[in-house]
Amino acid sequence: KEESTLSITVVGASGDLAKKKIFPALFALFYEDWLPENFTVFGYARTKMNDEELRNMISGTLTCRVNQRFSTLPDLSFPIPHDLNADTREHLQGKLPHTAKPSYLKNFELLIEAAGKVSNRLFYLSIPPNIFVDVVRSVGLRASSLNGWTRVIVEKPFGRDSESSGELTRCLKQYLTEDQIFRIDHYLGKELVENLSVLRFSNLVFEPLWSRDYIRSVQLIFSEDFGTEGRGGYFDNYGIIRDIMQNHLLQILALFAMETPVSLDAEDVRNEKSLRSMKPLKLGDVIVGQYKGHSKSGRSYPAYTDDPTVPKGSLTPTFAAAALFINNARWDGVPFLMKAGKALHTRRAEVRVQFRHVPGNLYKRNFGTDLDMATNELVLRVQPDEAIYLRINNKVPGLGMRLDRSNLNLLYSARYPREIPDAYERLLLDAMAGERRLFIRSDELDAAWALFTPMLKELEEKKIAPELYPHGSRGPVGAHYLAAKYNVRWGDLGGDDS
Ligand code: BG6
Repeated sequence: KEESTLSITVVGASGDLAKKKIFPALFALFYEDWLPENFTVFGYARTKMNDEELRNMISGTLTCRVNQRFSTLPDLSFPIPHDLNADTREHLQGKLPHTAKPSYLKNFELLIEAAGKVSNRLFYLSIPPNIFVDVVRSVGLRASSLNGWTRVIVEKPFGRDSESSGELTRCLKQYLTEDQIFRIDHYLGKELVENLSVLRFSNLVFEPLWSRDYIRSVQLIFSEDFGTEGRGGYFDNYGIIRDIMQNHLLQILALFAMETPVSLDAEDVRNEKSLRSMKPLKLGDVIVGQYKGHSKSGRSYPAYTDDPTVPKGSLTPTFAAAALFINNARWDGVPFLMKAGKALHTRRAEVRVQFRHVPGNLYKRNFGTDLDMATNELVLRVQPDEAIYLRINNKVPGLGMRLDRSNLNLLYSARYPREIPDAYERLLLDAMAGERRLFIRSDELDAAWALFTPMLKELEEKKIAPELYPHGSRGPVGAHYLAAKYNVRWGDLGGDDS
């Protein structure tokens, strides 16, 4: 029999993220038997709900990764004895003096922890910035476990620039130690992103090529085929650069470009992530866009500013492309191009590594004049249909000598038919195990903001108007000019791409 108990408290339990990601991930872990024997999940929200309503809300969006849908949660094994009374809510919002323990924790202690077991507590804060400090204070001062560990997963936004992020960190550290804080970036939990280091460090054929000597450019591409739908209120204050680039794409880039770590320990890996060697972004290396309304085949698609929660005339970018550079011997001069956008023609996230031309290529003439045809490209498709493929030049079978580009293709659905766990499952499990490798350390966060803050300030002060692009298109043409400035082309525009 286990001598410890685990409580998982989701603060912000009625929110979109909890509904779509956190509860389904917890349930998948439970279903696959990854959770410890004595565990309890609490929901804690500003929206008043009773136990049954919360259960209904959760079960409505539950899609376990074994593809079964559950209309009800099994009783007892997944109890949600939350208490969402007005006191506790106001307490969390900082309106009441912080004297009493939140009543849900009293219940919890009575119900579960009283048996003299070590109690471990994991808090998942999926809440807006305005209540963040109060919740952290409550957790740190009154809801911490007395005899086990207390860990807190925090979701972005971690501020909106260097100053506000530094302020949040100072506040967090007043009540929690760095070891207790798990800053989540769910892109680090994606299967293909984890595999990036495996591919590079455990195959002889890649690591020797991983530098400016062989790589001409690296591209990190994120696109969604839907707009901000319902999230305009949050989004307008942040924009695509803060929402996707400063965290998700930058984290992938840092992992991609890192030096070989001493070991796979969290601190060794995080020490080598290359954020501190990157050069702060320049406004001239960024282009911004915003989607406008568009009609296609009798359907009309709204503009970003048609969203009632978005202020009229908003200049917030829903698309951005940027070129980043790393100031070290390995990557000097190599453009790392990022592109992120909402309401584009497709949903996709990928890393594309473009290699240099073969010097004095014997077969050049077989390609005519289009030299680009002859370069190799390694693509890691993070989503939707996970794949790793290498574009190579190949002889077209037959008597003549004609060359063609083909793919050496590892398509996950063909090689690994088992469904891939959601990123949140992996990260929740890591937080429970105290594994910090895939979470963001505070110095990394500072470095990430230092790269983006001056450019963001300038962009906003100068009120740079975004280039409009039709909803469902490939985004603004400015992105092509940016790539052309560095003598490269976006790799996702090629034909035979899968
Ligand atoms: C979130 C962003 O961090 O990531 C959203 O706030 C975005 O705007 C989402 O839609 C994308 O995540 P995924 O896992 O669906 O690609």
